[in-house]
Amino acid sequence: MAKLKREEWYDLTRATNWTPKYVTEEELFPEEMSGSRGIPAEVWETYDEPYKVVYSEYVETQREKDAGAYSVKAALERSQYVENADPGWVSTMVAHYGAIPLAEYAASTAEARMARFAKAPGNRNMAVFGMMDENRHGQIQLYFPHAYTKLSRQWDWASKAYHTNEWAAIAARSFFDDAMMTRDSVAVSIMLTFAFETGFTNMQFLGLAADAAQAGDHTFASLISSIQTDESRHAQQGGPSLKILIANGKKEEAQTMVDAAIWRAWKLFSALTGPAMDYYTPMEHRSQSFKEFMEEWIIAQFERQLIDLGLDKPWYWDILIRDLDITHHGMHMGIWYWRPTVWWNPAAGFGPKEREWLEEKYPGWNETFGECADVIVDNLLNGRPELTGPETLPTVCNMCQLPIVGVPGSKWDVKDYQLEYEGRLYHFGSEVDKWCFEIDPERYKGHLNFIDRFLAGHVQPPDLMGGLQYMGLAPGEMGDDAHGYEWVKAYSQPKTDAA
Ligand SMILES: [Fe+2]
Ligand SMILES: [Fe+2]
Repeated sequence: MAKLKREEWYDLTRATNWTPKYVTEEELFPEEMSGSRGIPAEVWETYDEPYKVVYSEYVETQREKDAGAYSVKAALERSQYVENADPGWVSTMVAHYGAIPLAEYAASTAEARMARFAKAPGNRNMAVFGMMDENRHGQIQLYFPHAYTKLSRQWDWASKAYHTNEWAAIAARSFFDDAMMTRDSVAVSIMLTFAFETGFTNMQFLGLAADAAQAGDHTFASLISSIQTDESRHAQQGGPSLKILIANGKKEEAQTMVDAAIWRAWKLFSALTGPAMDYYTPMEHRSQSFKEFMEEWIIAQFERQLIDLGLDKPWYWDILIRDLDITHHGMHMGIWYWRPTVWWNPAAGFGPKEREWLEEKYPGWNETFGECADVIVDNLLNGRPELTGPETLPTVCNMCQLPIVGVPGSKWDVKDYQLEYEGRLYHFGSEVDKWCFEIDPERYKGHLNFIDRFLAGHVQPPDLMGGLQYMGLAPGEMGDDAHGYEWVKAYSQPKTDAA
């Protein structure tokens, strides 16, 4: 018997809606899980996923992808790349592996919600593949770092970070729980797949892959490129949802979801990816600056997608563009000061040559963030390393869960945006973080950020050691300067010559 061509049966097999006999439609698709927003099932049936794939094709491709990434790893194992790599690049990998794999694994739950509860059959179909994708991303990114746990316990944070109350882990959980674990399936398709995956996974998976390839880390580059090919497929689930919402009078709600998710993703990436790209990755291996990647993938490409779909630019776009010169530098300074509180070794990244690069990419860096670097260098050169650690607690934002940062030095511009809600004073790092809270205070109001917990007496003893214990950071796991402060020597040279 002749085989039918795919296009002859695809539409029939994917439109698997039926009329329930034993339960009501409301029981089959509870609103809090489905999020159909009063739009009838027939309209959801018009959901048209741009990327069409069937199971037999899916498993064949995925098998090849896995075979490719695992065989690159096996082939390069004996080259001992990680053992000999620049410590700054190792830190990028260790930070990545702690922050990403368990979020990927959790994302398979978010995909499963769409696979079961989306009223759009096309969405359910795609989400089954998305669910398997995310399971693969969790597994492969736990397997790869496991090989290095013999080198340092920090690699074990791939499995550990999300189970701790380490502050960056709290921030990552806060965003992912908000955007993907606690929303109905339509909101997940928009906040996770459209807002987060369309724009931001490119930063982590294409941007870092480019740096990895430049740094000669072909194992990491092939791993994360293999993941990104899945992301770019299942990220396409949000677009058709948005089209349906916009066509059915729900543009404002759709816009709000997109705007909130982009902002929250940006803040998380400013702490995770920004420092890795502009400070940890050895300068000669940087393909572009973090700002250039943001401009290309978020400001230009993503903005175009928003407009094409019929949405507007987020209201805070000018604030975001301004903050591309500020936020991640502030996050980096904060992380380096507070280095024992992270599971990786932050590279300072401000030796004399690196500063030239920073000044070129971010004109004015020297007279702002550079002034902080001057003080650090001065203290290290003059035998006062203890002054390069923190003395006071940072103020942490009640939305992004990250320190409130701004412009330091002679152009000082730091502001705590405050809001009193039901008798509690909340602190925010920007007008936009505050706006995210105000959209849905009930959702966010009870949460305590790390400093709230400290002040509430959860951290005992209330000092750095108590804090490290609370965060689950054992000796051998807590961070220190990636290069063991060797980079400072470049500053002592001219003085010695003159003497
Ligand atoms: Fe993923
Ligand atoms: Fe994904």
